[in-house]
Amino acid sequence: MKILGIETSCDETSVALLEDEKVIANIISSQDFHVEYGGVVPELSSRAHLQMVMPLFKKTLEQSSVSIEDIDLIAATAGPGLIGALLVGLTFAKGLSYSTGKNFLPVNHVEGHIYSGFLMDRKPEFPYLCLAVSGGHTLLLIVKSDTEIVKLGSTIDDAAGEAFDKVAKMLGLGYPGGPKISAAAASVSSSSIKFPIAHCKNEFDFSFSGLKTSVLRFIQKEYGNAENIPAGDKGLIAYSFQKSLVEALTRNVVKALNQFRVKSISLAGGVAANTLLRSEFESIAGKIKVPLVIPSLDYCGDNGAMIALRGYRLFNAGRRGTFGSNAFASMPEDNFTGYKK
Ligand code: KG4
Ligand code: ZN
Repeated sequence: MKILGIETSCDETSVALLEDEKVIANIISSQDFHVEYGGVVPELSSRAHLQMVMPLFKKTLEQSSVSIEDIDLIAATAGPGLIGALLVGLTFAKGLSYSTGKNFLPVNHVEGHIYSGFLMDRKPEFPYLCLAVSGGHTLLLIVKSDTEIVKLGSTIDDAAGEAFDKVAKMLGLGYPGGPKISAAAASVSSSSIKFPIAHCKNEFDFSFSGLKTSVLRFIQKEYGNAENIPAGDKGLIAYSFQKSLVEALTRNVVKALNQFRVKSISLAGGVAANTLLRSEFESIAGKIKVPLVIPSLDYCGDNGAMIALRGYRLFNAGRRGTFGSNAFASMPEDNFTGYKK
């Protein structure tokens, strides 16, 4: 089966082509111009998606040496994400499907991330524990089957990537914050600065707003503002912040692994590109001898391949899309089964 995947939820336009679960093409165009605004400007994002989606679609077909007639399924991100941005890819996919008679399936963006491990040679095995960490979400899940994803916990305030982005801004490191913080922390091997990790009522939930505020207070108290922070101290703050945030994530992962038997562990989303987080996952999985599946960097950030893959799995599980599917009705938590002790 040939599956086209279209992703336009935020600041990456991506079109991919899969042959079953094998990636034939995965073209990503990142909207780098948001950097000068210090964050994604929704209206500019929608306009750039409009400009890029058709050329990327054509390039994907060309690169894969297939024509539209060969495609069996068109999967597109329906949400969550920026509404204007989502509408571009979703409407493009619907139009393509309507005009060609090909199957269309709307896909949840977070589920795309959760399935990005299946793009790797070694795939996760059900049930698997997945930590999905991106700019918009922080979720700890058990993926039981293609149609049952159980949510153990999520963030009660900021998403992990959002905390990275905000702290990078406080330090004057620029956007997106994750890679900047990671780079600033890379040359540091220890720091006496300690930032607190919050405990939540639900033991699997996360909270990063206290951590973020304590970084802000520290900067205000010690330096007054970001301009006065020496470069070396920025590295120390970045290091300590990253250490606390990664510890907050892995602490809940370890708790979950002590309580639930899983066959694989997976990490997904933009923050899964973080070197420290990846190495902590390797050591956790190594200790309990459970296979770990971490997507390669191409598949951590937003991409069309993960959307095509999730679409393929859902299609095989009997899911069919209608043109009534819309970007306004697709919130992530709705799709996950609640967890009760
Ligand atoms: O999944 P993604 O590309 O988009 C969303 O669905 O949100 O994730 C983007 C997020 C941003 O917050 C970015 O700062 C973060 O992923 N990120 C990282 C790293 N690379 C990207 N966070 C920590 N370390 C990184 N190396
Ligand atoms: Zn994403």
